[in-house]
Amino acid sequence: MDRIIIFDTSLRDGEQAPGFSMNTQEKLEMARQLARLNVDVIEAGFPISSDEDFEAVREVAKQVGTLEGAPIICGLSRVGLADIDRAWEAVKYARRSRIHTFVATSDIHLKYKLRKSRAEVLKAAVDAVKHARAYCEDVEFSPEDASRTDFDYMCEVLEAVIDAGARTINIPDTVGYAIPEEWFNRIMKIREHVKNSGKAVLSVHCHNDLGQAVANSLAAIRAGARQIECTINGIGERAGNASLEEIVMALKTRKDFFEIDTQVRTEEIFKSSRLLSSITGVHVQPNKAIVGENAFAHEAGIHQDGVLKEKLTYEIMKPEDIGRAANKLVMGKHSGRAALAARLRELGFDLDEGELGKAFKRFKDLADKKKEIFDDDLISIVKDEIAQVPETYTLDYLHMISGTGIIPSATVRLKKDTEVFQDSGVGDGPVDAVLNAIDAITGLKGRLQDYQLRAVTSGKDAIGEVSVRVDFDGTVVPGKGSSTDVIEASARAYVNALNRLVHPAGGQKVKEIGP
Ligand code: KIV
Ligand code: ZN
Repeated sequence: MDRIIIFDTSLRDGEQAPGFSMNTQEKLEMARQLARLNVDVIEAGFPISSDEDFEAVREVAKQVGTLEGAPIICGLSRVGLADIDRAWEAVKYARRSRIHTFVATSDIHLKYKLRKSRAEVLKAAVDAVKHARAYCEDVEFSPEDASRTDFDYMCEVLEAVIDAGARTINIPDTVGYAIPEEWFNRIMKIREHVKNSGKAVLSVHCHNDLGQAVANSLAAIRAGARQIECTINGIGERAGNASLEEIVMALKTRKDFFEIDTQVRTEEIFKSSRLLSSITGVHVQPNKAIVGENAFAHEAGIHQDGVLKEKLTYEIMKPEDIGRAANKLVMGKHSGRAALAARLRELGFDLDEGELGKAFKRFKDLADKKKEIFDDDLISIVKDEIAQVPETYTLDYLHMISGTGIIPSATVRLKKDTEVFQDSGVGDGPVDAVLNAIDAITGLKGRLQDYQLRAVTSGKDAIGEVSVRVDFDGTVVPGKGSSTDVIEASARAYVNALNRLVHPAGGQKVKEIGP
C-alpha cells in the first residue's frame, strides 16, 4: 500500500481525557468535520463505557457514516463478548464499520490489572476477534501496553489474532514509553517475526508522555506501519496522543523523505483544530506546531526581512495549505444580512433562517461597539449564538457595579421560556458577583473549576472569549461565551454551562470502566 491510513481517535482517546468530554451533538459536529478533513477512520467512542457514549457512536454511524464517501466508523471494545456486541450495535449503521478490540499483554498489566495468565489473555484475544468477525469483516486488534510487552509473547498473540481474522493489528505505546529508534526496530521486527503479518495492516498508536508520539509514529511509518492512530491538536489521555496535523503535514512537507502520503484534505486542518477547541473550550498553545497561533508568525526582524524578500527563506509550509486564510477585515456597520450570510458560508457556517437572524442581531450590536469586524469576530459570535444545547436559560439583562474600594455587586435577569427571573449577588470580584447572582436565580451552586479569557482579535475593542468548566454538585460541564464586555462574556459562558447541565445529554459523563 502506498498511502497511510489516518485513524482519528479524537472522539474516543481524545474525548476520554479530563476536560475534553463531548456530548452527542458535539461529537456529531466534530465527526462531520473529520469527514470533510477526509480521515480514513473515525473512532467515535467506546460504546459500552456509558449509554451516552453508545448513543454518540450510534448517531455518528447513522448520520456521518452513511454519507457518500464517509470514513469507516469504528467503536472500541474490550475483549469481553458483551463489549463487542455493544460496539457492533452502535457502529452497524455505517456504510463501513469497524470493531476495535483490545486487551493488555504486558506482564505488568497481566499481573496487577487483569490477574490473568498469558495463556488466558491469548485465548480471550482470539475469542474476541472471532466473535467480532462474525459481525463484520473489518476487525482491529490492539495488545495494550505493547511497548512494555515481552516481544515473543506479543508476536504469538498477533499471529493468533491475525489467524482468527483481525485485518488491522495496532501496536499501542500506551504509556508513551518508546523512543523512536527502539520503536522503529520493534515495528520492523514484528513484520519479520509474525509470519502472517502480511495479511493485516500494521498500525501504531503512540502516546506523548515523553513528547515522542509524533516522532515514534513517523519512525513506525519508516518501519512499515501503514495506519497511524492520532488526534486533532494531539488531545488524549495524560500528555495526549500523536497529533494528526503534525503527522499529516510532516508527510506532506517531507514527501521527498517519506515518499508516502495521506488522503487528508489539509486545507481543513485549521478549521478542525479550531472547531475542537471551541467545542471543548480548551485552547491550543500558541507555539503548537502547525495549528498554534504563532505557527506562521515571523517576529524577528531578520526573519521578517527574509520572508518579505522571499517566503522560502523561513517558510516550509504555507498557511493556506492548512486552510489558514489571512484574518480578513470583513464587514462593518452597514453590511446587510445577505452579505453576512455569504461571508459566514465562506467560513464554513451554513445557518438556517433562525440562526442567521440571531447571528445578524449580534453582528449589528457588535458593529455599534467595534469599528472593524474580522473573520475571527464573526466565528466567535456565531459559535456563541448557535448553541450546541437548547437554551433553557438566556441572559436578558446584566448590571454590575465594581471599582476600587467597593464591594462588587451585580443584578442579573435570566429568561426561561416566557418567564423572567431577576436576582442580585455580591462577590470577591465582578465575575464572582455576576455568577453568584445567577446561582441565586437558579438555586444551583456552581464551583468554577477552570476559567480562561482570551481576546479573539487584537485591539482594545476586541471580543473577549471566555471558556469555563463548572462543577455543579459533582457534574462538571464546560461553557463558552463571548462579548466585547468580558463580564458579560463570563456570564454568557456560565449560562451556557448551566444549559448543558440542565439538558439531558449535556453533563460530563464520568466514565469508570474496568479492565
Ligand atoms: O493507549 C492505548 O493503549 C489505547 C488502546 C485502547 C488502543 O488507547
Ligand atoms: Zn490510547
